[in-house]
Amino acid sequence: MTPEAIVELPDPFRFEDGTRVCTAAQWSRRRKEILDLIVEIEYGGLPPVPQETRWEELHTCQVRHMSGVRFISYRVVTGTDRPFSFLLNLLVPPGTGPFSVVLTGDACWKYVTDAVAGEVLRRGHILAQFNRVELAHDVYSSERASGLYLAYPDGCYGALSAWAWGYHRAVDALVKMDFVDVSRIAVVGHSRGGKTTLLAGATDERIALTCANDSGAGGAGCYRCQGPQSERLEGLIQTFPFWFGPRLREYVGREKDLPFDQHFLKALVAPRALLTTEAIGDVWANPTGTRQTHLAAKEVYRLLGAEGRIGLWFREGTHNHGESDWKAFLDFMDWQLCGREPACGFDMNPFPEMSPAFSWSAPGMSGGDSQTHP
Ligand code: GCU
Repeated sequence: MTPEAIVELPDPFRFEDGTRVCTAAQWSRRRKEILDLIVEIEYGGLPPVPQETRWEELHTCQVRHMSGVRFISYRVVTGTDRPFSFLLNLLVPPGTGPFSVVLTGDACWKYVTDAVAGEVLRRGHILAQFNRVELAHDVYSSERASGLYLAYPDGCYGALSAWAWGYHRAVDALVKMDFVDVSRIAVVGHSRGGKTTLLAGATDERIALTCANDSGAGGAGCYRCQGPQSERLEGLIQTFPFWFGPRLREYVGREKDLPFDQHFLKALVAPRALLTTEAIGDVWANPTGTRQTHLAAKEVYRLLGAEGRIGLWFREGTHNHGESDWKAFLDFMDWQLCGREPACGFDMNPFPEMSPAFSWSAPGMSGGDSQTHP
């Protein structure tokens, strides 16, 4: 598909019956429609919510090289008839809390260096980590014979859904811990881990802030608006079929028929805080398309009076989850959840020549239905 072949991004304010959202109050009904549509078609649904989630404390100690910091290791156990468990490790800052939380499922990737962990703790947040590949291996297996697929064999949810489910169960546990501030839980992940956090944040309103780093296709990128070297749906589905639900492949070569694009996923997070962190040289992850989904989702934030809650941040360089990405996320979190003004802006536009790929806009607050972009 060439960029010239691209049609306009779908209008998130258009109900399935063809009518259009007119007021902020009507958004929750449209949000539900979008949720059902995108979770089902793109990700194959989500595994069921278990009857219960509990945890066992395995170990606690003081961290020798971090004064006053405690390490606590838990096993999160879900369900009764089909139990499933995974590890959740916390670094807790000095004091009694309640503390805000930075939760990441990317423990498999070791992007959280001691310097990053130290910075999270210095800012007064708990750092909570789990390894999402405990829930579903990041390796294709047509048998679906490991992890969560054994506990919940029904359905056709892909690995991104299984990983997002891990975030939800970690949140189940965190919100019951008396040293956690349940209103300030943020999730952050990189690349396929960023696709996961976007899905997790879109589908769980207990998550106050969602951050996706370099998440690209199936994450903050755009299927319809592609840069010259960005990842297309066809290649994504060929290489990683198990990340998604089976229906997504029906749209290979006919992306313009998808009843959504990734601004719909971002819009599901609204009005909660959402940050996309990107690298200009990470062309595979489609930085221009990500700017398009940002602009389009921002219209939903505008309707809800929360325009300042959606952020987009860029750096030079390529695919990585490095210290500057973490710093941008933590500055955004400190601003959005703790009221500390950031030093930089979070509506970066490295592509000033690019026009928005949509002509619709947020309906007027008083019931108007303006159709053009300002
Ligand atoms: C591949 C894949 C991307 C993914 C990335 C990653 O490059 O094509 O979609 O984001 O891996 O997870 O590192």
